[in-house]
Amino acid sequence: MTDTPLLSLDASYYTDEKIFKAEQQGLLARTWQFAGHASQLEQTGDYFTVEIAGESLFCIRDDNHELKCFYNVCQHRAHRLLEGSGNTRLITCPYHAWNYHLSGKLRAGPNIKVVPGFDVNKICLSSVRVEDFHGFVFVNLDMEAKPMDDWFPEVRNQLKSYVPHINKLKPVRWIEVPEVCNWKVSVENYSECYHCKLNHRTFATGVVKPETYDIQPQGYCLRHTTECQNLDKMTYPIDLASNEHAGDYSSWFLWPLFSFQVYPGNILNTYHWRALDANNVLLWRGWYSENGQANEVIDTLATQDMDTTVAEDIGLVEAVQQGLKSRGYRPGPLVIDPAGGVDSEHSIATLQQWMRHTDGQYFY
Ligand code: FES
Ligand SMILES: [Fe+2]
Repeated sequence: MTDTPLLSLDASYYTDEKIFKAEQQGLLARTWQFAGHASQLEQTGDYFTVEIAGESLFCIRDDNHELKCFYNVCQHRAHRLLEGSGNTRLITCPYHAWNYHLSGKLRAGPNIKVVPGFDVNKICLSSVRVEDFHGFVFVNLDMEAKPMDDWFPEVRNQLKSYVPHINKLKPVRWIEVPEVCNWKVSVENYSECYHCKLNHRTFATGVVKPETYDIQPQGYCLRHTTECQNLDKMTYPIDLASNEHAGDYSSWFLWPLFSFQVYPGNILNTYHWRALDANNVLLWRGWYSENGQANEVIDTLATQDMDTTVAEDIGLVEAVQQGLKSRGYRPGPLVIDPAGGVDSEHSIATLQQWMRHTDGQYFY
């Protein structure tokens, strides 16, 4: 048998709206998706709405101070319940004023008592799975989904050791970057560093040592590890004695649309992709500081990151999306080095595997 190299996915996976619809019903509805930050839900009754896999949802802090997530739809005749974000004691539908407790149970509605056999106790909003992951709120439309710790083994502990103050963090900068490409083009670009030396001079010479960069699966997480450049080259002071990972860089991409990144100095920042349609994705770069306090180092880093890595990647992913629509493109072989390392696309092969199935379920 001759060896056949693994090819990049067929272009239609990145361009066809029918495939995107199938993803919304399958892949994106059966995986853990970032919804927001717990600091938006500190008080009882705090809520925010969010769209995941084409569904409007809302997350809310209930009377027992538990985090809940529901489909944003009234159980009477389907009007949307909440808009934006805010605080409320009851969830009241704007159509006929049916109102629900924060637990999702129906409380009352005008004139419902005239209906024989109407039992308010039998009506409840439809729940969505929700988890608080060090203050990051994730939801999953699949009620049977395994917990995040099963999907992403060890990540919770590793993050805590890289960012010891993670539970005190709040968002301080939030940057939205529209990219005209399929979400998988952007995620694949994030998940390989074969393009780094040529395209990311600042990152590859100022932050990491590319020859030590590697990306390996850890459950459904792709863990990026690297040695850093001489920390004297860093543009901000780092107290290496303060904790075990003060001088380290690492990142944890949580399949399919989120990544935690830690820069030297225990600086947490996140990548989050919102898949809008087959040809558009919105990238959100989040930066966090203790209690969300203004922080000059983070401001400088966030601006530098926007002007270098992010800007460089936009050009790449948008050019790829154009190319995927070319009649002249045939999927090419991935460069997979069995030893892994920076000049290898083994992580793209892993993403391909996950795109095709998760828990044995095929999405396409
Ligand atoms: S649709 Fe909500 S009260 Fe009628
Ligand atoms: Fe890149």
